[in-house]
Amino acid sequence: MGFVLAATGSAIGLGNLWKFPFITWENNGGAFVLVYLMCIAAVGLPIMMAELLIGRSTQKSAVGALKEAVGPAWGLVGLWGVMCGFTLLSYYTVIAGWSLFYFAKTVTWSLSGFPAGLATGDLFGEQAGNGSLQLMLSFGFSIATVGVVYFGVQKGIERIARLFLPVLFVILVLMLISALGMSGSREALGFIFRPNFAELEPTSLLEALGHSFFTLSLGMGAMITYGSYISRGQSIVKASAIIVVLDTLIALIATVIMFSVIFSVAGMADDVSDTGTVGMLFISLPALFYSEVPFGRILGPLFYVLVALAALTSTMSLLEVVASYIIDEHGVGRRKATLMCGGVVFVFTVLAAVSFGAVPFITNLEVGGALGDLLFGGKVGWFSMADHFVSNWMLPTGGLAVTLAAGWFMTRQATESELMDGTEPGWFRYGVWRFFIRFVAPVAVAAIIVAVIFFGVDFS
Ligand code: TRP
Repeated sequence: MGFVLAATGSAIGLGNLWKFPFITWENNGGAFVLVYLMCIAAVGLPIMMAELLIGRSTQKSAVGALKEAVGPAWGLVGLWGVMCGFTLLSYYTVIAGWSLFYFAKTVTWSLSGFPAGLATGDLFGEQAGNGSLQLMLSFGFSIATVGVVYFGVQKGIERIARLFLPVLFVILVLMLISALGMSGSREALGFIFRPNFAELEPTSLLEALGHSFFTLSLGMGAMITYGSYISRGQSIVKASAIIVVLDTLIALIATVIMFSVIFSVAGMADDVSDTGTVGMLFISLPALFYSEVPFGRILGPLFYVLVALAALTSTMSLLEVVASYIIDEHGVGRRKATLMCGGVVFVFTVLAAVSFGAVPFITNLEVGGALGDLLFGGKVGWFSMADHFVSNWMLPTGGLAVTLAAGWFMTRQATESELMDGTEPGWFRYGVWRFFIRFVAPVAVAAIIVAVIFFGVDFS
């Protein structure tokens, strides 16, 4: 139970609350959501099982597990995953820090009234461009992450997941009830659940696919590492199904909540489309909580608590990927390894934190030419470049490697004995999994990589 909650906590994060609602918006809802659900089932779920089984069969973290399960050279794939976790953690912490800022703001508004004439777009820009504020926020969040991982898997990670995940659910359900009572909820439900395939663009399929990796924490060894903590008597198939279903449910509920609010306010829809990915969660919603949402003065601050908790259960698993590598492969003790990794990651968090105007050199950083376009999509600023590289290159290549490892390089017997160990549920067919992991998943992931290289599709 502790493990399943920890892994679910890893999966549920900013991807669900911040990224998914926005890409659903951009891709016109309905049909996109359906396609996304198919990607989760056909690609996400099989790879989730593959990562967990590699972890459990070897009882090692990413690098050691791949070396032992597949072959010595595969340690490099594990290392690629560790680097990915490192990079993702460095900038994810900055976004997580924003939730602390908005928590403080919404509490203040609830207590002393909404300031007249405040444009939340300006507020966002001001806080993001304020270097010392950004450093404080992300430092605070890093300390929390290090503080959890420091105490180890059972006393730290699992305990926090056990404690926070139920809180997160309760807040979300309260918000859902409130949102469904708003006038825009009908339109929101229609937008999200009524498929209109005429509005589906070809790239939507790829975007859904790319996001399924991100949201399930796949493609970088995080689930391999967590898999090593599953006990023998537990079914990998069931655990994977629970994680995937909960993650998807949370993403959908969050989307229903946000869209209900947005559709309830005249003119808001145009506003959201203009403010980009960041906009919905940090520009459009904060003010609306105060003025539009039933019980919003209480739910507003609670919502940003929710974002912070969801982010923390993800950052702690990211740090665990990096720290467990140092612990297992270099024989460093947990406490020392956690402090060391946390410290080094924070150096890069500083770069991400000053990417929004605080330090012009970092904000305007750019790699020009064909290589810059290929690797970073021509993005400007450290934060955007890192995000682009992780989402478009590191996760898909790591994911492809895992499908190949589990489907083609490991023996049938090795994977079958892990999945069919007598604990598997009645509906599960090993042959179906094997078909998906050998053929469907690699082709799908390869399509992502091809799209990035040749068609300039952007998953970040
Ligand atoms: N799944 C997380 C989210 O949706 C983000 C994430 C991607 C992640 N890969 C990860 C978290 C690895 C932890 C470990 O926000």
